[in-house]
Amino acid sequence: MINQETIQRIMDATRIEEVIGDFVSLKKRGANHIGCCPFHNEKTPSFYVSPSKGIFKCFGCGKAGNAVGFLMDHEHYTYPEALRWLAQKYNIEIEEEKMSDEQRERQSVRDALFHVSEFAQKYFAELMWEDEMGRAVGLSYFHERGLTDKVIKDFGLGYCLDKWTDFTDHARKNGYSDEVLEKTGLSIFKEDGKVFDRFKGRVMFPIYSISGRVLGFSGRVMSKEKQVAKYVNSPDSEIYNKSNILYGLFQAKNAISRANKCYLVEGNVDVVSMHQSDVCNTVASCGTSLTVEQIRLIKRYTQNITVVYDGDSAGIKAALRAFNLLFEEGMHAHAVLFPDEEDPDSYAQKYGSTQLQEYLAGHEMNFVEFKMATSGIPDIGAIDPIRKSNLIKEYTDSLALIQDPNEQSGYITLIASALRVNENDLRRTLAQTIAAHKRQAWKEEQRELAREEAAAEQAIAEQAMVEQTTGEYPETAPLPDGYTTPPQVLADLRPAEAQERRIASLLVKNGSRMVKMQLVDQEGKEFTQEVRVADIVTAELTADNLGFDNPTYKEIFDLYTHAVGDGRPLPDANYFAVHPDTVLRNTALEMMMSTYGLSPQWEEKKTIAVPNPDDNLNVELEETILAYKKKKLEQRMADKQYELRQCKDPDEQMIIMAQYNELKQLQQQAGQSLHQVVS
Ligand code: CTP
Ligand code: MN
Repeated sequence: MINQETIQRIMDATRIEEVIGDFVSLKKRGANHIGCCPFHNEKTPSFYVSPSKGIFKCFGCGKAGNAVGFLMDHEHYTYPEALRWLAQKYNIEIEEEKMSDEQRERQSVRDALFHVSEFAQKYFAELMWEDEMGRAVGLSYFHERGLTDKVIKDFGLGYCLDKWTDFTDHARKNGYSDEVLEKTGLSIFKEDGKVFDRFKGRVMFPIYSISGRVLGFSGRVMSKEKQVAKYVNSPDSEIYNKSNILYGLFQAKNAISRANKCYLVEGNVDVVSMHQSDVCNTVASCGTSLTVEQIRLIKRYTQNITVVYDGDSAGIKAALRAFNLLFEEGMHAHAVLFPDEEDPDSYAQKYGSTQLQEYLAGHEMNFVEFKMATSGIPDIGAIDPIRKSNLIKEYTDSLALIQDPNEQSGYITLIASALRVNENDLRRTLAQTIAAHKRQAWKEEQRELAREEAAAEQAIAEQAMVEQTTGEYPETAPLPDGYTTPPQVLADLRPAEAQERRIASLLVKNGSRMVKMQLVDQEGKEFTQEVRVADIVTAELTADNLGFDNPTYKEIFDLYTHAVGDGRPLPDANYFAVHPDTVLRNTALEMMMSTYGLSPQWEEKKTIAVPNPDDNLNVELEETILAYKKKKLEQRMADKQYELRQCKDPDEQMIIMAQYNELKQLQQQAGQSLHQVVS
């Protein structure tokens, strides 16, 4: 547990732009820093960091938070972990209390999984360096494969003894529960209650996150038995997801940035061996074929990626698939083929690092070169026309995925000359292919829209059926997400949301600012007083009780209403930045960040004079409240009219009429001025 005082010291020392700058390349722009959002894929930066407010906000995907929130989202830290990370960065001492059994119990599962993974990594490495068996078997295996002590240590390699339960016993003795051992997959529990170590008798490759936390393992057998899998990997868990992890990225990321290029190899040992040969900008997708998530991880550091797969048919097929994926993600892709039966590791061990580096540099092929080299066509002049036509189609299908028209055009020229076809014909085919792809995408989109529309109609039809039989809105009628009003008035809902948003935004941005108001006391005497915007807004809106349809804006409004009512401090940036409700957090922070001159659209048009509504807070306040009331009353009156039409019971009708008239009266009053009931 970290005490409040320490948390405060950490927060005071934290500079959000420095923290995020460790993971994202940021540029200063006015009062803010901007960069490409690490949470979604984008080319033009819409990720804003505000040093003065201590928050970040992406205008593309909507993610927002403070430095702690960033670390929690980006690095998957828990709250205390994020604080510890910051404390370490800013040299703030935290007094670590020894964990009691009870506290350990309470720790989140994720926390425990991280903990046991790190514990396991240390144990496997220690065994290999210090235990007699470990040295004799594990360490000598790596030495025999030509790996130096330095890389073995850099990659945290280790060894799991060839005993059924050595690791499990050791972990249990250190207080780790069977639950976490099972979840990380380090131990395998049989139905009959028997347990054994998953990695028994294997050399261990820990798999690290970008920031160097152990997430899982890859274990290799040392025997040459064919019956057992050569590599066994950790199963997916709360902390390990094989499709968005790259083996070696932690050790390679700086080198990738520096070289502005990343080598993608097939195997763990290839990565380690490449590092040893000083080609440190190398990663591997461990045990999966390349995924979009993995490409996006690399894209944070470079757009240039060179695929180095085995020269066998499986390797070639995988490389061609990788080219397409890389094109789609806007990467600049190349490939290197090794001679048959060689991989980067075997090549480096056989010929040494200089030769390896020369080979990589000398055999780098672009897409066209690679495809020609691997398509097995001895003489393009004598190629069968059908085969040639198929080949052209393969090429254009891939080229259609490239986003940069210049790059596309460059490839066209290369392909035309390689296949000996007319360049303009090829361009036409490509244009047709792209058009066909677009049509296809458009069709899918239309189909999706039609499906949604049909579903909505179906819901309304079902609703009408229920109403015909019961004459009232059923409580359980399915409503679209976030709506509390029946579908009949749905069309009217969206406009009111804009007013609700203005109210919420006013509270979030200016809730604690003071305005002078003409107020009326209980005896009807007028007086002037300085009050907070939040006091006025909450008093005005609770008086009429018109409510909110959008749950997020309602939640924001309620937060302020309760804070005002209880005399507590109003929610501020720090409060929202760590709010567990992501939608609420993002919405509030977006409102906070969207001061004039900050939103990307405005930034582009700096020369335009932007009216600053803050100069006229009183006017803005009044207008916002009145606009909200006007719209909400319209909406409520429409509801009542609808109710009236549906209602068969004369007594009920009277009640509804009365309610309608009440609303109408409110509407007349609302047109004049605010209630000014605050006292
Ligand atoms: N792999 C796996 N499971 C297997 C085989 C392979 O997860 N049963 C993954 C491993 O990450 C491995 C990579 O695929 O590193 C490439 O496998 P392979 O080419 O068979 O092995 P090498 O990398 O050459 O392994 P080594 O050099 O250790 O023999
Ligand atoms: Mn190998």
